[in-house]
Amino acid sequence: MVNNSSRNIVITGGAGFIGSHVVRLFVNKYPDYNIINLDKLTYAGNLENLRDIENKPNYKFVKMDICDFDAFYKLMQEEKIDGIIHLAAESHVDRSIKDPFTFARTNVMGTLSLLQAAKLYWESLPEGYEGKRFYHISTDEVYGALEMNHPEGIEPPFKTTASSSEHHLAYGDEFFYETTKYNPHSPYSAAKASSDHFVRAYHDTYGMPTIVTNCSNNYGPYQFPEKLIPLFINNIRHRKPLPVYGKGENVRDWLYVEDHARAIDVIFHNGKVAETYNIGGFNEWKNIDLIKVMIKTVDRILGNPEGYSLDLITYVTDRLGHDARYAIDSTKLQKELGWEPSLQFEEGIEKTVRWYLDHQEWMDNITSGDYQKYYEEMYKER
Ligand code: NAD
Ligand code: DAU
Repeated sequence: MVNNSSRNIVITGGAGFIGSHVVRLFVNKYPDYNIINLDKLTYAGNLENLRDIENKPNYKFVKMDICDFDAFYKLMQEEKIDGIIHLAAESHVDRSIKDPFTFARTNVMGTLSLLQAAKLYWESLPEGYEGKRFYHISTDEVYGALEMNHPEGIEPPFKTTASSSEHHLAYGDEFFYETTKYNPHSPYSAAKASSDHFVRAYHDTYGMPTIVTNCSNNYGPYQFPEKLIPLFINNIRHRKPLPVYGKGENVRDWLYVEDHARAIDVIFHNGKVAETYNIGGFNEWKNIDLIKVMIKTVDRILGNPEGYSLDLITYVTDRLGHDARYAIDSTKLQKELGWEPSLQFEEGIEKTVRWYLDHQEWMDNITSGDYQKYYEEMYKER
């Protein structure tokens, strides 16, 4: 049952990692929608991620900063925007520790600017908020960190078809629920938390039809190689050191990016206004165990002897304020909207490793900086 009929949709941050998967899914699945990818093309934006769909008639790219209120208001009027899926953000925790101001500007002020422009435009229409949707994509990091009171792992209380693999362990008794109190620690998660509050405030104060989702760590193709998985796959291939923060004991809960994109599709169309949904695959890994899986997989595919790249593991100074453990409970989404992850982790990591090894040119264009030059002349910021 579809309870949202939005057709003219802006997806912000569509040139980034998750955004590009969401744009691709919507453009391919909904030929009668008008999909606008709005992105500033920061260092993390890469239109090469969308080469396969860039000429589709239902797709348009607009280079814009989400903080530019006037430009966004004009775009909403011109394109009669009735749906917003908001992913644009500064997303890397390490960068937020060095430069928190950029995170406050984009993640907080940028989100507020979109909300206010949407409010003014939608309230100016005879039908008001009817048929409109502001869907904000957030992170599990806003909930803070969970204790790792079972360092060896225990049988978890939850299971999904996709994650019922051999590994399937939980490293503590507690999980993040939709009702878990916000307790962000890094400047990144503090800024995301603030933006989540603003989105909910626009529902509670003005009646804007908003939805917020909080997702666990994503992995898969087109992730910027500052993040753990693409960085390490590339370093293993080139026999470069693998900088493991602290003891590598921190736990993250991993979800294949296309499963996140499918969840966004389901929630955008069928989610209840004003609700929060957690998205995750019950798939916890200690960093060091995950790193060993990546080493094993890359070595096997490249024909290296088993254990060949283990010597690249290099323990380095820990990330400041490094959260110990994230673990999302996505039961609500699974029960209420019927979504569940489609891939077992072993399958997902194999696909991901193969994708990065097969797309060395994509990686080289990033490391050389060429990915930004390609589109520089084609698109000027509006
Ligand atoms: P990303 O860094 O790969 O992409 C972010 C995109 O936003 C880029 O294309 C960038 O150019 C664009 N952008 C940044 N600042 C902008 C601005 N001022 N105006 C317009 N565009 C701007 O990020 P990602 O990993 O794809 O994450 C997307 C969203 O999902 C973020 O909101 C993030 O908080 C959230 N999220 C990410 C994960 C994850 O594991 N990566 C998990 C949960 C939630
Ligand atoms: O949980 C969702 C979050 O996941 C998203 O909101 C963020 O946008 C996304 O970047 C991601 O945050 P993390 O900090 O968990 O991801 P990252 O890939 O940076 O790091 C994963 C883990 O690996 C973390 O415990 C830190 C560690 N790490 C990371 C890097 C880059 C290392 O040990 N060495 C590294 O070089």
